[in-house]
Amino acid sequence: MPEVRVVNVTKKYGKLYALNNVSLTIHDQEYFSLLGPSGCGKTTLLRLIAGLIEHDSGEIHIGDRRVDKDPPEDREIGFVFQTFALFPHMNTWDNVLYGPKVKNYDSKQAETIGHEVLELVKLSERLNAYPSELSGGMMQRIAVARALAAGGKILLLDEPLGQLDAKVRNDIRYEIRRMAKDLKLTAIHVTHDQQEAMSISDRIAVMKKGKIVQIGSPKELYMHPNSLFVAFFIGESNLLEGYVTKLEGKNAEVELREGYKIQAYNERDIKVGDRVVLAIRPETCEMKLGLIGEGLDGLFGQIEKTTFEGTIVRYEIRLVNGDRFVINRPSLTEEWVKLGQEVTITYPKEKAHLFPYPANGLSDEISV
Ligand SMILES: Nc1ncnc2c1ncn2[C@@H]1O[C@H](COP(=O)(O)OP(=O)(O)OP(=O)(O)O)[C@@H](O)[C@H]1O
Ligand SMILES: [Mg+2]
Repeated sequence: MPEVRVVNVTKKYGKLYALNNVSLTIHDQEYFSLLGPSGCGKTTLLRLIAGLIEHDSGEIHIGDRRVDKDPPEDREIGFVFQTFALFPHMNTWDNVLYGPKVKNYDSKQAETIGHEVLELVKLSERLNAYPSELSGGMMQRIAVARALAAGGKILLLDEPLGQLDAKVRNDIRYEIRRMAKDLKLTAIHVTHDQQEAMSISDRIAVMKKGKIVQIGSPKELYMHPNSLFVAFFIGESNLLEGYVTKLEGKNAEVELREGYKIQAYNERDIKVGDRVVLAIRPETCEMKLGLIGEGLDGLFGQIEKTTFEGTIVRYEIRLVNGDRFVINRPSLTEEWVKLGQEVTITYPKEKAHLFPYPANGLSDEISV
């Protein structure tokens, strides 16, 4: 059964490392996503697995076979490209049957497969339509059907939903996952949309500049980011710079700018005196009106901006030390808070993650 194993793979374009010594294992029948900002190497990795480009070093295994010297057609892979890439001069039926025909399936067998996959993507009624006569969502479903008809046990999807509007994208992403699971496929889905990756993946690899930064379930990445980059890229995080002034077990006291002290949680090897960055998620915070308590109990500031975003209200707050802080609250339970209102923000201490200040500087660390 097709587990996909990438071992120490490097791919260079001139001096640029598109992939720099990447290793990862995708389990049989797993729905796996590659997530990362534009140019981080997602498409390159997918194309290498498919055999569409060659790597400089490393190994690629599918099941118990090493495949990196094999041509793409021997790898049993279906590929859905970043752009729809349907043949414009072929109707739905001919697009879908392209794979089985290339593989010289007999026509009865090819037709059975064609009907099956079109049934799956719910487009059996549009056999005779040409791509120009179909909506973006339909074209993408046909691209998926064509990849499925090719008969592989591995489905590679490169930003399959990138060109669709939000509502259609939401529906189709669950459909694709369902199909992959029904057909017991191993799926590798490339996206730069963290919400998309979070909602459909069993596991995600977060990539940055040709490297994998962290691999984990959506929950693991969200709850336990291993780096500031992941904390910042997955979901949203407030980042506050400071120095550790006191440590008792995992409880840390951090001095922010202007001598403002707050509490944090130290899961890493951080010592008193270290320069640190605190990451606090906007939705873990509570907000009370007025300046309540003294020091350490909370963050004090003034509301600078509020944005109604439907299910949540987003409050941008200027802290008394000048730092900016964002919190999100459910809009139905919140009273509309006026600009300039003084507030106290509290958060569970263990939700304030401490990271060492990055050697390359904070803005470089989180830059996409
Ligand atoms: N054929 C090529 N020649 C030269 N450089 C390339 C080539 N293909 C990719 N690159 C470079 O390799 C890096 C990784 O590209 P890749 O297409 O894998 O990124 P990506 O993560 O898929 O980005 P996006 O989200 O924008 O699609 C980029 O810097 C890109 O410019
Ligand atoms: Mg790409």
